Amino acid sequence: MPAEPIRLAVIVGSVREGRFGPTVARWFADQARPREDLDVDVIDLAEVHLPMVMPAFGTAPAPEAARALASLTPRLDAADAFVIVTPEYNHSFPAALKNVIDWHGPQWHVKPVGFVSYGGLSGGLRAVEHLRLVFAELHAVGIRDTVSFHGAWRQFDGDGVPISPEGCNGAAKTMLDQLTWWARTLREGRTARPYAA
Ligand SMILES: Cc1cc2nc3c(=O)[nH]c(=O)nc-3n(C[C@H](O)[C@H](O)[C@H](O)COP(=O)(O)O)c2cc1C
Repeated sequence: MPAEPIRLAVIVGSVREGRFGPTVARWFADQARPREDLDVDVIDLAEVHLPMVMPAFGTAPAPEAARALASLTPRLDAADAFVIVTPEYNHSFPAALKNVIDWHGPQWHVKPVGFVSYGGLSGGLRAVEHLRLVFAELHAVGIRDTVSFHGAWRQFDGDGVPISPEGCNGAAKTMLDQLTWWARTLREGRTARPYAA
C-alpha cells in the first residue's frame, strides 16, 4: 500500500505591499505539487491578519485573533512538515512570521521545517539561520539544505519563471527529499510514542 502523502504547509512569510514573496512561493509550490509524496497547502500570512497583541496566559484571545486562529491553527495542526518562504529584513526574518510562530506551540513540535529564502546579497540566508534557532526552541527539525535566491528580483522573468531553473529546481528537489524523509520518520515516531515535550 503506498504511504499516505506528507501534508506540507508552505508558509509565505512576507506581508509587505508590493512584496516579491508570492513569486518565489508560486515557483516553489509548483515544484512541490507534482510530487505524489506531498499534499501541499500554501498559507499566505498576508491573508491571516493575526494581531500582534497576545492575551495574558490563561485568557481567551480577542475576537479578531480568535477568528484568525480559527482558520490558521487547524492548517498548522494538520501539517506533517513546513516550508517557510522568507525574505531577509535587516539580517533577519519578517515580524509577521515571528508573530505567527509565537502564537503557536505544539503545532510545530516534532515536525521538519525547510527554508526557501530570498533577498539582496545575502539571499536571505541570515533570516534562515535565525529561523533555525527559533524552530529548535519549538522542538522542530530544521532541514540542512536550503533554497536561496540572491538578488531575487533578477532571478525571475516577468512571468515569475526562474531565468536559470536548473540550479533552483535541483535545490528544491534536494531539500524536499530531505524534508519528506524527516516528515515520514517523525510522523511514525509521533504515532508510535508520545513525545517528551
Ligand atoms: C525593511 C527591509 C529590510 C531589508 N533588509 C535586507 C537585508 O538585511 N538583507 C538583504 O539581503 N535584503 C534586505 N532587504 C531586501 C529584501 O530582502 C527584498 O526587498 C525582498 O524582496 C523582500 O521581500 P518581499 O518583497 O517579499 O517583502 C530588505 C528589505 C526591506 C523592506
